[in-house]
Amino acid sequence: MTTATTQACANIALIKYWGNRDDTLRLAANSSLSMNLGGLETRTSIAFDLSLAADELTLNGRPGPVEALRRMSGFLDLVRGMAGSQLRARVSSENNFPTGAGIASSASAYAALALAASTALGLDLSERDLSRLARRGSGSACRSIPGGFVEWQAGETDADSYAFSIAPPDYWDLVDVIAVVEAGEKATGSSAGHSLAATSILQPARVADAPRRVVLCRQAIVEKDFEKLAEVVELDCNLMHAVMITSTPLLIYWEPGTLELICQVQSWRAAGLPVCYTIDAGPNVHILTLGDSAAVVEELVRNVPAVRTVYVAPPGGPARLVNDGHF
Ligand code: DP6
Repeated sequence: MTTATTQACANIALIKYWGNRDDTLRLAANSSLSMNLGGLETRTSIAFDLSLAADELTLNGRPGPVEALRRMSGFLDLVRGMAGSQLRARVSSENNFPTGAGIASSASAYAALALAASTALGLDLSERDLSRLARRGSGSACRSIPGGFVEWQAGETDADSYAFSIAPPDYWDLVDVIAVVEAGEKATGSSAGHSLAATSILQPARVADAPRRVVLCRQAIVEKDFEKLAEVVELDCNLMHAVMITSTPLLIYWEPGTLELICQVQSWRAAGLPVCYTIDAGPNVHILTLGDSAAVVEELVRNVPAVRTVYVAPPGGPARLVNDGHF
Protein backbone atom coordinates (compact mmCIF):
# COMPACT_ATOMS: atom_id res chain seq x y z
CA MET A 1 0.00 0.00 0.00
CA THR A 2 1.33 3.46 -0.79
CA THR A 3 -1.59 5.40 0.62
CA ALA A 4 -3.14 5.64 4.07
CA THR A 5 -5.60 7.79 6.02
CA THR A 6 -5.36 8.13 9.76
CA GLN A 7 -6.81 10.07 12.66
CA ALA A 8 -5.27 11.11 15.98
CA CYS A 9 -6.41 13.18 18.98
CA ALA A 10 -4.77 16.23 20.46
CA ASN A 11 -3.70 15.78 24.07
CA ILE A 12 -3.43 17.93 27.19
CA ALA A 13 -0.36 17.49 29.36
CA LEU A 14 -1.16 17.00 33.05
CA ILE A 15 2.57 16.80 33.80
CA LYS A 16 4.41 18.93 31.24
CA TYR A 17 7.22 18.24 28.81
CA TRP A 18 9.39 21.38 28.73
CA GLY A 19 12.98 21.28 27.55
CA ASN A 20 14.99 18.58 25.77
CA ARG A 21 18.20 16.81 26.64
CA ASP A 22 18.57 16.34 22.89
CA ASP A 23 16.68 18.69 20.57
CA THR A 24 17.24 16.65 17.39
CA LEU A 25 16.05 13.36 18.86
CA ARG A 26 13.49 15.16 21.04
CA LEU A 27 14.65 13.39 24.17
CA ALA A 28 12.70 15.19 26.87
CA ALA A 29 14.34 16.59 30.00
CA ASN A 30 11.61 14.89 32.05
CA SER A 31 8.83 12.33 31.77
CA SER A 32 5.31 13.68 31.22
CA LEU A 33 1.70 12.55 31.45
CA SER A 34 -1.36 13.50 29.43
CA MET A 35 -4.95 12.82 28.50
CA ASN A 36 -5.98 12.47 24.86
CA LEU A 37 -8.69 14.95 23.88
CA GLY A 38 -11.61 13.06 22.40
CA GLY A 39 -13.23 14.84 19.45
CA LEU A 40 -10.31 17.23 18.85
CA GLU A 41 -8.61 15.40 16.04
CA THR A 42 -6.37 15.63 13.01
CA ARG A 43 -7.15 13.52 9.97
CA THR A 44 -4.27 12.92 7.57
CA SER A 45 -4.12 11.26 4.16
CA ILE A 46 -0.82 10.42 2.52
CA ALA A 47 0.06 9.10 -0.93
CA PHE A 48 3.62 8.20 -1.85
CA ASP A 49 3.89 8.75 -5.58
CA LEU A 50 6.69 7.98 -8.05
CA SER A 51 5.73 10.99 -10.17
CA LEU A 52 6.40 13.54 -7.39
CA ALA A 53 9.69 15.45 -7.38
CA ALA A 54 9.11 16.87 -3.88
CA ASP A 55 6.81 16.39 -0.90
CA GLU A 56 3.57 18.38 -0.97
CA LEU A 57 1.43 19.51 1.95
CA THR A 58 -2.16 20.71 2.10
CA LEU A 59 -3.29 21.95 5.53
CA ASN A 60 -7.00 22.48 6.08
CA GLY A 61 -7.55 22.72 2.34
CA ARG A 62 -4.74 25.24 1.64
CA PRO A 63 -1.09 24.85 0.65
CA GLY A 64 0.88 24.36 3.88
CA PRO A 65 3.33 27.12 4.96
CA VAL A 66 6.97 26.62 3.85
CA GLU A 67 8.15 26.03 7.43
CA ALA A 68 5.51 23.35 8.02
CA LEU A 69 6.46 21.66 4.73
CA ARG A 70 10.16 21.69 5.64
CA ARG A 71 9.48 20.16 9.06
CA MET A 72 7.20 17.53 7.52
CA SER A 73 9.75 16.61 4.82
CA GLY A 74 12.46 16.17 7.42
CA PHE A 75 10.15 13.84 9.31
CA LEU A 76 9.22 11.89 6.16
CA ASP A 77 12.96 11.47 5.42
CA LEU A 78 13.16 9.54 8.68
CA VAL A 79 10.30 7.26 7.67
CA ARG A 80 11.74 6.83 4.16
CA GLY A 81 15.06 5.90 5.76
CA MET A 82 13.36 3.22 7.87
CA ALA A 83 11.50 1.81 4.86
CA GLY A 84 14.34 2.13 2.33
CA SER A 85 12.16 4.27 0.09
CA GLN A 86 12.91 7.32 -2.06
CA LEU A 87 9.29 8.12 -2.87
CA ARG A 88 7.98 11.64 -2.26
CA ALA A 89 4.56 12.13 -0.72
CA ARG A 90 1.40 14.17 -1.13
CA VAL A 91 -0.03 14.87 2.32
CA SER A 92 -3.37 16.39 3.17
CA SER A 93 -4.12 17.14 6.80
CA GLU A 94 -7.22 18.60 8.43
CA ASN A 95 -8.05 19.53 11.99
CA ASN A 96 -11.68 19.39 13.09
CA PHE A 97 -10.92 22.25 15.49
CA PRO A 98 -10.02 25.70 14.13
CA THR A 99 -6.25 26.04 13.64
CA GLY A 100 -6.32 29.64 14.77
CA ALA A 101 -8.08 28.73 18.01
CA GLY A 102 -4.77 28.22 19.79
CA ILE A 103 -5.18 24.54 20.57
CA ALA A 104 -1.87 22.82 19.92
CA SER A 105 -2.12 20.74 16.79
CA SER A 106 1.43 19.41 16.41
CA ALA A 107 0.69 16.46 18.72
CA SER A 108 -2.32 15.21 16.76
CA ALA A 109 -0.66 16.16 13.45
CA TYR A 110 2.55 14.17 13.97
CA ALA A 111 0.77 11.23 15.59
CA ALA A 112 -1.54 10.98 12.56
CA LEU A 113 1.38 11.49 10.14
CA ALA A 114 3.61 8.89 11.83
CA LEU A 115 0.89 6.26 11.53
CA ALA A 116 -0.07 7.28 7.98
CA ALA A 117 3.47 7.46 6.57
CA SER A 118 4.71 4.25 8.21
CA THR A 119 1.59 2.33 7.14
CA ALA A 120 1.70 3.62 3.57
CA LEU A 121 5.36 2.57 3.25
CA GLY A 122 4.54 -0.90 4.52
CA LEU A 123 6.19 -0.62 7.94
CA ASP A 124 4.24 -2.54 10.52
CA LEU A 125 5.37 -0.72 13.65
CA SER A 126 4.45 -1.68 17.20
CA GLU A 127 2.69 0.98 19.31
CA ARG A 128 6.00 1.64 21.06
CA ASP A 129 7.93 2.15 17.83
CA LEU A 130 5.15 4.35 16.41
CA SER A 131 5.28 6.46 19.55
CA ARG A 132 9.07 6.75 19.22
CA LEU A 133 8.66 7.78 15.58
CA ALA A 134 5.93 10.37 16.33
CA ARG A 135 8.20 11.83 19.05
CA ARG A 136 10.74 12.76 16.36
CA GLY A 137 8.10 14.94 14.66
CA SER A 138 6.85 16.63 17.83
CA GLY A 139 7.62 15.50 21.36
CA SER A 140 4.04 15.65 22.61
CA ALA A 141 2.91 13.64 19.54
CA CYS A 142 4.35 10.45 21.07
CA ARG A 143 1.58 10.75 23.68
CA SER A 144 -1.18 10.87 21.02
CA ILE A 145 -0.33 7.37 19.73
CA PRO A 146 -1.67 5.31 22.68
CA GLY A 147 -5.24 5.88 23.95
CA GLY A 148 -6.71 7.47 27.07
CA PHE A 149 -4.36 8.51 29.87
CA VAL A 150 -0.79 8.32 28.66
CA GLU A 151 2.68 8.51 30.16
CA TRP A 152 5.78 9.46 28.15
CA GLN A 153 8.77 7.85 29.76
CA ALA A 154 11.58 10.30 28.98
CA GLY A 155 14.13 7.46 28.90
CA GLU A 156 17.83 7.83 28.19
CA THR A 157 18.04 7.14 24.47
CA ASP A 158 15.96 7.08 21.31
CA ALA A 159 15.14 3.43 22.06
CA ASP A 160 13.54 3.94 25.48
CA SER A 161 11.85 7.33 25.05
CA TYR A 162 8.21 6.52 24.20
CA ALA A 163 4.67 6.77 25.56
CA PHE A 164 2.26 4.12 26.79
CA SER A 165 -1.30 4.08 28.09
CA ILE A 166 -1.75 3.94 31.87
CA ALA A 167 -5.57 3.79 31.67
CA PRO A 168 -8.08 3.52 28.79
CA PRO A 169 -10.38 6.47 27.88
CA ASP A 170 -13.38 5.06 29.74
CA TYR A 171 -11.40 4.47 32.95
CA TRP A 172 -12.20 7.85 34.47
CA ASP A 173 -14.85 10.39 33.50
CA LEU A 174 -12.45 13.34 33.44
CA VAL A 175 -13.43 16.19 31.11
CA ASP A 176 -11.32 19.04 29.72
CA VAL A 177 -13.29 22.29 29.34
CA ILE A 178 -11.01 24.37 27.13
CA ALA A 179 -11.39 28.12 27.45
CA VAL A 180 -10.04 29.89 24.37
CA VAL A 181 -8.93 33.29 25.56
CA GLU A 182 -8.70 36.53 23.64
CA ALA A 183 -5.07 36.66 22.52
CA GLY A 184 -2.73 39.29 21.12
CA GLU A 185 0.13 38.47 18.77
CA LYS A 186 1.08 34.81 18.40
CA ALA A 187 3.66 33.76 20.99
CA THR A 188 6.90 31.82 20.48
CA GLY A 189 6.25 28.26 19.29
CA SER A 190 7.03 25.40 21.65
CA SER A 191 10.03 24.10 19.63
CA ALA A 192 11.81 27.43 20.14
CA GLY A 193 10.54 27.54 23.73
CA HIS A 194 12.07 24.16 24.62
CA SER A 195 15.52 25.42 23.71
CA LEU A 196 15.13 28.36 26.11
CA ALA A 197 14.21 26.19 29.11
CA ALA A 198 17.84 25.59 30.07
CA THR A 199 18.41 29.35 30.42
CA SER A 200 16.16 29.44 33.50
CA ILE A 201 17.82 28.71 36.85
CA LEU A 202 14.50 27.12 37.88
CA GLN A 203 14.58 24.41 35.17
CA PRO A 204 16.98 22.04 37.06
CA ALA A 205 14.70 22.17 40.13
CA ARG A 206 11.58 21.58 38.00
CA VAL A 207 13.21 18.61 36.24
CA ALA A 208 14.66 17.13 39.45
CA ASP A 209 11.23 16.99 41.08
CA ALA A 210 9.39 15.73 37.95
CA PRO A 211 9.59 11.99 38.80
CA ARG A 212 7.75 12.68 42.08
CA ARG A 213 5.02 14.62 40.27
CA VAL A 214 4.63 11.89 37.64
CA VAL A 215 4.13 9.31 40.39
CA LEU A 216 1.56 11.50 42.17
CA CYS A 217 -0.33 12.20 38.96
CA ARG A 218 -0.32 8.53 37.91
CA GLN A 219 -1.62 7.58 41.37
CA ALA A 220 -4.34 10.25 41.22
CA ILE A 221 -5.54 8.82 37.89
CA VAL A 222 -5.38 5.18 38.98
CA GLU A 223 -7.19 6.02 42.26
CA LYS A 224 -9.58 8.45 40.50
CA ASP A 225 -8.68 10.99 43.18
CA PHE A 226 -9.61 14.41 41.79
CA GLU A 227 -8.21 16.44 44.72
CA LYS A 228 -4.84 14.78 44.42
CA LEU A 229 -4.89 15.35 40.66
CA ALA A 230 -5.80 19.02 41.04
CA GLU A 231 -2.92 19.73 43.38
CA VAL A 232 -0.20 18.15 41.27
CA VAL A 233 -1.57 19.37 37.89
CA GLU A 234 -1.67 23.02 38.99
CA LEU A 235 1.76 22.79 40.65
CA ASP A 236 3.27 21.26 37.53
CA CYS A 237 1.71 23.88 35.26
CA ASN A 238 2.93 26.71 37.47
CA LEU A 239 6.45 25.28 37.59
CA MET A 240 6.61 25.21 33.78
CA HIS A 241 5.33 28.77 33.48
CA ALA A 242 7.79 29.85 36.20
CA VAL A 243 10.59 28.45 34.01
CA MET A 244 9.16 30.23 30.99
CA ILE A 245 8.97 33.66 32.61
CA THR A 246 12.49 33.30 34.04
CA SER A 247 14.09 32.24 30.73
CA THR A 248 16.32 34.53 28.66
CA PRO A 249 14.65 35.97 26.68
CA LEU A 250 11.60 35.54 28.82
CA LEU A 251 8.44 33.86 27.57
CA ILE A 252 5.09 35.02 28.86
CA TYR A 253 2.23 33.06 27.35
CA TRP A 254 -0.47 34.32 29.69
CA GLU A 255 -2.96 37.03 28.74
CA PRO A 256 -5.04 38.96 31.27
CA GLY A 257 -7.91 36.51 30.65
CA THR A 258 -5.62 33.59 31.53
CA LEU A 259 -5.03 34.94 35.02
CA GLU A 260 -8.68 35.81 35.41
CA LEU A 261 -9.58 32.16 34.72
CA ILE A 262 -6.91 30.88 37.14
CA CYS A 263 -8.49 32.99 39.89
CA GLN A 264 -12.00 31.89 38.95
CA VAL A 265 -11.03 28.21 38.99
CA GLN A 266 -9.60 28.66 42.52
CA SER A 267 -12.84 30.21 43.73
CA TRP A 268 -15.02 27.55 42.04
CA ARG A 269 -12.96 24.85 43.72
CA ALA A 270 -13.21 26.61 47.09
CA ALA A 271 -16.99 26.61 46.55
CA GLY A 272 -16.92 22.82 46.18
CA LEU A 273 -16.68 22.16 42.42
CA PRO A 274 -14.14 19.59 41.23
CA VAL A 275 -12.07 21.87 38.96
CA CYS A 276 -8.42 22.59 38.32
CA TYR A 277 -6.53 24.39 35.57
CA THR A 278 -3.58 23.73 33.34
CA ILE A 279 -2.05 25.87 30.59
CA ASP A 280 0.26 24.90 27.71
CA ALA A 281 2.47 27.20 25.62
CA GLY A 282 -0.35 29.66 24.94
CA PRO A 283 -2.97 31.75 26.75
CA ASN A 284 -5.81 29.21 26.74
CA VAL A 285 -6.87 27.58 29.98
CA HIS A 286 -7.71 23.89 30.18
CA ILE A 287 -10.15 23.41 33.03
CA LEU A 288 -10.34 19.81 34.15
CA THR A 289 -13.47 18.57 35.85
CA LEU A 290 -15.57 15.42 36.25
CA GLY A 291 -18.36 14.42 33.86
CA ASP A 292 -21.09 15.16 36.42
CA SER A 293 -19.95 18.76 36.75
CA ALA A 294 -18.97 19.41 33.12
CA ALA A 295 -22.19 21.23 32.13
CA VAL A 296 -22.04 23.55 35.16
CA VAL A 297 -18.34 24.27 34.60
CA GLU A 298 -18.89 24.92 30.90
CA GLU A 299 -21.60 27.46 31.71
CA LEU A 300 -19.40 29.20 34.30
CA VAL A 301 -16.49 29.36 31.84
CA ARG A 302 -18.67 30.75 29.04
CA ASN A 303 -19.69 33.61 31.34
CA VAL A 304 -16.12 34.80 31.89
CA PRO A 305 -15.86 37.90 29.65
CA ALA A 306 -12.36 37.13 28.27
CA VAL A 307 -13.46 33.71 26.95
CA ARG A 308 -14.01 33.60 23.18
CA THR A 309 -14.85 29.94 22.61
CA VAL A 310 -15.21 26.81 24.69
CA TYR A 311 -14.46 23.21 23.68
CA VAL A 312 -15.38 20.25 25.82
CA ALA A 313 -13.32 17.07 25.47
CA PRO A 314 -13.61 13.70 27.23
CA PRO A 315 -10.67 11.26 27.24
CA GLY A 316 -9.87 10.25 23.64
CA GLY A 317 -8.73 7.02 22.00
CA PRO A 318 -5.51 6.04 20.24
CA ALA A 319 -4.26 7.08 16.79
CA ARG A 320 -5.93 4.87 14.19
CA LEU A 321 -6.28 4.00 10.53
CA VAL A 322 -9.56 5.14 8.95
CA ASN A 323 -11.29 4.86 5.62
CA ASP A 324 -11.06 7.77 3.25
CA GLY A 325 -13.52 10.56 3.92
CA HIS A 326 -13.98 13.85 5.65
CA PHE A 327 -14.90 14.98 9.14
C1 DP6 B 1 3.77 23.14 26.76
O1 DP6 B 1 5.52 18.81 21.70
O2 DP6 B 1 4.70 21.06 20.93
O3 DP6 B 1 2.48 21.70 25.37
O4 DP6 B 1 8.54 18.74 20.32
O5 DP6 B 1 9.01 21.08 19.66
O6 DP6 B 1 6.96 19.93 18.79
P1 DP6 B 1 7.95 20.07 19.93
O7 DP6 B 1 7.15 20.62 21.18
P2 DP6 B 1 5.70 20.27 21.68
O8 DP6 B 1 5.79 20.81 23.19
C2 DP6 B 1 4.71 20.71 24.05
C3 DP6 B 1 4.88 21.65 25.17
C4 DP6 B 1 3.68 21.77 26.09
C5 DP6 B 1 3.71 20.73 27.21
C6 DP6 B 1 3.32 19.32 26.82
O9 DP6 B 1 2.49 19.11 25.92
O10 DP6 B 1 3.83 18.41 27.50
